[in-house]
Amino acid sequence: MKNDFFSGFYRNKKVLITGNTGFKGSWLSIWLVKLGANVVGLSNEVPTYPSLFENAKLSNALDYRKGEIRDLKSMCSLLEETKPELIFHLAAQAIVSVSYDDPVETISTNTLGTATILEAVRKCSHPCTVVIITSDKCYENLEWPWGYRESDQIGGRDPYSASKGCAELIFHSFYESYFAKSENVRLCSARAGNVIGGGDWAKDRIVVDCVENWAKGLPVKIRCPDATRPWQHVLEPLSGYLHLARELSMNSSLSGQSYNFGPKELHNKSVINLLQDLSKYWNFKEPENAFLIKGNIPFNEGSLLKLNCDKALFDLKWTPTLTYEECVKYVSQWYYAFYHDEVDALDLCLGNIATFEQKACERGLSWSN
Ligand SMILES: NC(=O)c1ccc[n+]([C@@H]2O[C@H](COP(=O)([O-])OP(=O)(O)OC[C@H]3O[C@@H](n4cnc5c(N)ncnc54)[C@H](O)[C@@H]3O)[C@@H](O)[C@H]2O)c1
Repeated sequence: MKNDFFSGFYRNKKVLITGNTGFKGSWLSIWLVKLGANVVGLSNEVPTYPSLFENAKLSNALDYRKGEIRDLKSMCSLLEETKPELIFHLAAQAIVSVSYDDPVETISTNTLGTATILEAVRKCSHPCTVVIITSDKCYENLEWPWGYRESDQIGGRDPYSASKGCAELIFHSFYESYFAKSENVRLCSARAGNVIGGGDWAKDRIVVDCVENWAKGLPVKIRCPDATRPWQHVLEPLSGYLHLARELSMNSSLSGQSYNFGPKELHNKSVINLLQDLSKYWNFKEPENAFLIKGNIPFNEGSLLKLNCDKALFDLKWTPTLTYEECVKYVSQWYYAFYHDEVDALDLCLGNIATFEQKACERGLSWSN
């Protein structure tokens, strides 16, 4: 079995993941540990029950530090002590509906959290490559039919989106003010859209609602069946983040840049299409047993949003790996095996990562060697 993905770059590397107990942070931890990295994780809590972090027993696989991302003193001590060569900043209040209930906490976590990790990097003098994870929602959503480019206007009509737009501005201001001429520190921001994958149990996410209901034999209620999202498997943006960090650490001219990581055009499907496709793997005889359309949108999340990823292709030679059908199959089968066959969560993730790597290899993708 080939094991030099990302050219073996991550073997024995010290990597800090903020937000390691979350959905994407857990998958990123699993992949990095598999790649041979020494992972340190910083999070304030395990955000959901159940959680991938606990089900996959990740506290045994990495050095988990419970802490507050906005605590500058603690962040400086953590960096001084652990001296990470790479940092992936994912810690955030990541749920749009929660941002409506608690805008101040969302904005504070997502903006001050970003400023604090960057300030800690500035104060701690050792060399480091940093990837700041924001979101496709950082763009001013003009509801237009074409994809957003990195040069498009930053915005955000809801508190979460605004906080991610602000995180982008903070990233750029730190780059311009402190790191543009730095030999030691390189940083980029990465913008991806809604991700799906096994092991997500976050609040108000459609796939999570869906599989939790299906696991109990109930149909899922759909709030906005026609909302279109660029659905992608969680491993897609993670392959982008990992590839970007490697390229950035080898090429200083990328520092200060932002990159979109989205799925292929064909992945822009409506909620109802996605649920129909997921339900095929759960053996429903009648569609009404799988979902009920309840057609009211409780909060404004924007109805059309897709990313143009030409810059990642041009600068990094990055493209997504999976077809839409493969993505849906990975997700649906993960949850089905977890709920019905009680397969170990870590084994399910490692299985998805192995086949994802294999497909990237077969398709000759840049990061697969
Ligand atoms: N999941 C998606 O579809 C998606 C889409 C686009 C962007 N993102 C971004 O990716 C990142 C990860 O998303 P996710 O889905 O894994 O989120 P998540 O909610 O599952 O995890 C969030 C993580 O951040 C940590 N955290 C929150 N507040 C903190 C604080 N004050 N101090 C320290 N740690 C704190 C949590 O403990 C958790 O580990 C976030 O920045 C999110 O905005 C996610």
